[in-house]
Amino acid sequence: MAISNIFTSSITTPPFFARTKPSLLPRRVLLGLGASSLQFGWMRSGTSGGYLSSSFTSSASPLQGSPSVDVILNVEWPEEFPFKDENFTRYDESSDSSFYSQPRFVTHIDDPSIAALTKFYSKMFPPTNTPGVCLLDLCSSWVSHYPAGYMQERIAGMGMNEEELKKNPVLTEYCVQDLNVNPKLPFDDNSFDVVTNVVSVDYLTKPIDVFREMQRILKPGGLAIMSFSNRCFWTKAISIWTSTSDVDHAFIVGSYFHYAGGYEPPAAKDISPNPGRTDPMYVVYSRKETSA
Ligand SMILES: C[S@@+](CC[C@H](N)C(=O)[O-])C[C@H]1O[C@@H](n2cnc3c(N)ncnc32)[C@H](O)[C@@H]1O
Repeated sequence: MAISNIFTSSITTPPFFARTKPSLLPRRVLLGLGASSLQFGWMRSGTSGGYLSSSFTSSASPLQGSPSVDVILNVEWPEEFPFKDENFTRYDESSDSSFYSQPRFVTHIDDPSIAALTKFYSKMFPPTNTPGVCLLDLCSSWVSHYPAGYMQERIAGMGMNEEELKKNPVLTEYCVQDLNVNPKLPFDDNSFDVVTNVVSVDYLTKPIDVFREMQRILKPGGLAIMSFSNRCFWTKAISIWTSTSDVDHAFIVGSYFHYAGGYEPPAAKDISPNPGRTDPMYVVYSRKETSA
């Protein structure tokens, strides 16, 4: 794990919440590094249908530089899931329940990046108050960053701290569950329209199990949106995350969708509001196949 490469947190950041490996190399170098360091052999799937849009390829750092960047993770994935068990170990393997036992009424990313995520949600979510629409916020806390006033009959939250979840105004129900101990989601098949997960996908040690479960509980065509920045509780993030860069993270999350199965090819987007000046924000998202 490249602990030496991790920046210390800024004054507004909660303890332990540090930046992951900075992306300081030129983008084209990093892309090479991203692919080769992960040893996936990921390739562009064609000269015009590659995984990068032209606006993306012209940016100066990976997944940064343009708020309109859209990356289709249209990759020739290896046949087998390319990660090994050791990629999902953490520096701190103590119980997550203890780590999250104290509520943290903080925001883990800055206000502009939160606003960018909320704006993305407002474009992607079903209209507020639509009969029958259900959402699930995984790895939730006292905030979900949904659009102001957004409501549905059912918005479930799952997280690790009950005091936080209890205070989350958007949730109509919640449950506390350690997904690294029990990745089974306590919901019926085909019951949710949207699943969200904000700055927390990097803590999942059994991501494929969780993504399979998300796929099971999503309705056909339902949308899963994973978002992340470049910060984390690094002692609790999986080692493959803390030793790789932002662009790698998009591929790592994309691979979860791919290898879980039953999803459309994932897409990624850089929605960083002020590239290089405020926290970056990325989304990797996919829909459950309608035929699944
Ligand atoms: C950095 S916080 C993000 C919380 C919230 N999504 C937000 O945007 O403020 C990480 C969250 O991941 C969740 N989490 C971490 N480890 C988990 C685990 N093993 N099982 C379930 N959730 C976990 C906790 O609920 C914790 O609040």
